[in-house]
Amino acid sequence: MVMTAEKTETLAAEIRKLAAGKNALILAHNYQRAEVQAVADYTGDSLELARIAADNPAEIIVFCGVHFMAESAAILSPEKKVLIPDPTAGCPMADMAIEDDLIAMRGRYPDAMVVTYINSSAGVKALSDVCCTSANAVKIVQRVEARRVIFVPDRNLGRWVQRFTDREIIQWKGYCPTHERFSAEDLAEAKRLHPDALVMVHPECRPEVIDMADEVFSTGQMVKFVQETDRTKIIVGTEEGMLHKLRSAAPGKDYILASKALVCPNMKKTTLEKVYAALANEEPVVSVSSGMREKALGCLRRMLELSG
Ligand code: 13P
Ligand code: SF4
Repeated sequence: MVMTAEKTETLAAEIRKLAAGKNALILAHNYQRAEVQAVADYTGDSLELARIAADNPAEIIVFCGVHFMAESAAILSPEKKVLIPDPTAGCPMADMAIEDDLIAMRGRYPDAMVVTYINSSAGVKALSDVCCTSANAVKIVQRVEARRVIFVPDRNLGRWVQRFTDREIIQWKGYCPTHERFSAEDLAEAKRLHPDALVMVHPECRPEVIDMADEVFSTGQMVKFVQETDRTKIIVGTEEGMLHKLRSAAPGKDYILASKALVCPNMKKTTLEKVYAALANEEPVVSVSSGMREKALGCLRRMLELSG
């Protein structure tokens, strides 16, 4: 259902009031709908939001993103109630790594350390040595004390990291369907239409797309870059919600989505109505059993320590 601007504003004001009354913090990933980003206390990339979830003293966190993000917040802050407005908002890439397969992989490479992208389940994190996000993946792989690294689950991010390290990376076969749909042909067409634009893409993109880009950044790094660069026309090769974030962070520039394929259906499941209902009812709650939480926490904490 499409809401009028007036109704959107009224609902956003009600959400803000409810959040203030309950000492609740609303976090939104950079790929969320514009109106959801606008109602949040903080927007950011996976690393920024994980840090805020761990450090902020709020009693309730409403996590507007996908399930692994809310789950990471619950692992980092067990004393907080973590709510996810739509519990079906998952990440198909995270689902591409399952625990039994990781146990088997560890058995095949006993000398390797497992570096796991935050886009993964708590169970997979619990079996891993250290977590990473797209913002710190290169740094983390370079800092682990092993010559061989099993990188789980994103093969595109893993192949990007391999360009910067002499550690041998054993790639998992997962990928983000949204970034994988974005083809080199799509980017060639965007560049043909906008030959004067700078191209920045996310490391979840295919290697041949990355080869055509000027810059490769996590979503948080994209924000920093557009705030600092003199360039005013930028082709953006990541999920379309990013355009709202960039326009708010560095207005007055021309941001062009590199491909119509760059929409993550799961990120779009969160609506203002669902945020309101989650806050009002204080559910659905995301929780992790204590045994698994302890192990997954080690993996997330090591990332926060190693990334400085
Ligand atoms: P970052 O925001 O950490 O760059 O991650 C992108 C992503 O795909 C999250 O699902
Ligand atoms: Fe997962 Fe890709 Fe969607 Fe991010 S954009 S949540 S990696 S499917």
